[in-house]
This record gives sequence, C-alpha cells and structure tokens, in this order.
Amino acid sequence: MFSQRYKELTPYTPGEQPQNREYIKLNTNENPFPPSPKIKEFLDSADIEKLRLYPDPSSTRLRDAIGSYYGISPAHIFTGNGSDEVLSFCFYAFFDSAYGPVLFPEHTYSFYPVYCSYYDISYEKVPLRKDFSLSVDAYLAKDRYSGIIFPNPNAPTGILTDKQGIEKLMKNIPENIVVIIDEAYIDFGGKTVIPLTEKYHNLLVVQTFSKSRSLAGARIGFAVGNTELIKALMTVKDAFNSYPLDILSQSIGEIALADRDYFNMITARIIENREYTSLALKKRDWEVLPSTANFIFARKKGRAGKEIYRSLKEKGILVRHFDHPGIEDFIRITIGKKSDMDTLIEHAGG
Ligand SMILES: Cc1ncc(COP(=O)(O)O)c(C=O)c1O
Repeated sequence: MFSQRYKELTPYTPGEQPQNREYIKLNTNENPFPPSPKIKEFLDSADIEKLRLYPDPSSTRLRDAIGSYYGISPAHIFTGNGSDEVLSFCFYAFFDSAYGPVLFPEHTYSFYPVYCSYYDISYEKVPLRKDFSLSVDAYLAKDRYSGIIFPNPNAPTGILTDKQGIEKLMKNIPENIVVIIDEAYIDFGGKTVIPLTEKYHNLLVVQTFSKSRSLAGARIGFAVGNTELIKALMTVKDAFNSYPLDILSQSIGEIALADRDYFNMITARIIENREYTSLALKKRDWEVLPSTANFIFARKKGRAGKEIYRSLKEKGILVRHFDHPGIEDFIRITIGKKSDMDTLIEHAGG
C-alpha cells in the first residue's frame, strides 16, 4: 500500500501552533506586527471573480517588482510557495550525491536534512566555531562536495556571516558548485548579498516575505541568481506544480514591497525589541548569542534548555527548544512586541 520512499520519510517538525490556549507565541519566528495596511485595503476590494482563473504561472508582475526593488533583471528571479518550496526545488536541482555530499552547518535550519532524505542526497554537517559563528575556512577545507547551503544569519543561532566571508567562499570554490545563501532573516540588520549574484554565477540567494514583511500566511518566497540557475528552478517547478503562487499572494507580495515605509518601521521596531530583550536577559545572567535576526538564541547557566522551555510554557509563553547535542541548553526566542518581551523577561529568572 505504501511506497518504500514514503516509509523511509522523516518529515520536518514545525514549531507548535497550539489552538487550545492563548499563548504568547515566541516559537516560530513570525512577525508580531500585522502586514502593511495597504494589503488590507487591497483585500477589502479584491476582485473575487478573478479567482475563477489560474494565476500567472511565473508571477511576472511580482518578479518585476522584486527586480526593481533590488535593481536586477526579473530573468534572475524565481518565485515559489514560501521559501521552503524554493529551497526544496534547489535541493532537487543543484545537489547530487554522485558528486559528493551537500555541506551545511552543524546547527542550522532543520529542514535541510529533511530535503536530503526526501531526494536521497547525502550531506555533511560542518562544525561551527566555539562561539557558534560559521567558519568559511571549514568549508574551504573540504575537498569533495556537490553544494553548500546555509542561512545568513544562521538559524537558530542568529549569527551573521559578513559579506567579506561570503565573497571569500565564492572566490575559492569551484564554479560548478552551487552555493545557496538562505536570507530568511537578512532584513533584521544584515545586508543582502543579492548584488554578488551578478559576479558569481554559482551563487543563489533565497529570501522570504514570511518574516520581515509579516506574510508567513501568504507563502511567498523567491530566489535570485544567474539565468541558468533560475531556468533550472522553473523546470523543477513545472515538473511539480505550475502554479505555486496564487492570484492573491502575487498581488499581496507586490503591495508589501511597495510599502517601504511600513517595512522600515516594523523591522526597526523588531531590532529595537531584540536589543532591549538581549540586554535585559544578559543583566539576568543569561548568555545571549549576538543576533542579526528576529529571534535570539540564549541559555542560562545551571538550567537545562528543556526545563526553561517547559516552565515558560506553563506560564503561557511558547519558545522553541532543540534537543540537539551541543545546543540543548539553549532556547530560541522569537522577538515579539515590547509587552510580550517584558512578560518573557519577567519570567526569565534573575
Ligand atoms: C532559515 C529559514 N529558511 C527558510 C524558512 C522558510 O520560510 P518560508 O517557507 O515561510 O518562506 C525558515 C522558516 O522559519 C527559516 O528559518
């Protein structure tokens, strides 16, 4: 009844989305602010009649909008149903065990090994430095691999690798190895390396509207890279689902990009709340890794991560805990509104 493939599948475990109780939700890196008010105006008067038709399969207008936002040609842009789908297509198109394993950080986005299992791709985890930052040299020391992927800033650490680090990597690896930089959290203080895709044709940058544009529910993700890479992603898409982005989401994405003032305001507030929370926890004897994301990764000496997670949950605050050796004492805290962060700090222990 079931395929062998299916029987061997290990799915990703998403953060809890409890429906039974009201929690302060600081566990899935969602944005605490609503999307741009211009999106509400659009939805209030949306032409429902249009839902009768299939959407534009290649999201032309949205790709044009992303292109003008970043000053690149739409031929260098691919859009998908959330960056998770875009990433999945990347694993399918660019990584192949026949040429070696794909490399990613020892502690990173836990969907990467899931895609590997799905597509039967071997992988190797590259250790982080002692301070949990990513070592480009550790990647350069490897001699056989079929690709490289990491989030920048990394998740769940929140630590950014600077542009010089990424350039050093690109300059020193073979041109036929695709490097994917997953910039899901780049808008919270980092600087995108999208401009480097013009110089390095094996570099692909993936972004999402879920975090900084507060649109996790609309599922809009995209990739930027050389036309050959983009063509490959289009081919994979058309072998799977020609219409990954629905009509409403394509328009919502365009509107979100155009409202720069709102975007600047909410990202600045999250950065401010992050710095405020980090300082308050440090004052209470926590170790907080330096974050450039909309979350922080923190631990408190003498307390197990799982225990902190449980005790906060009892108090109505959800955070994320990863039971992985080396980071088991940390909890990942999404940055919410200031009042939510105050409640967290109050229960964080002195
Ligand atoms: C590092 C990283 N990449 C990609 C994603 C996927 O985001 P989405 O599918 O909502 O675009 C996430 C989501 O949490 C993430 O943490």
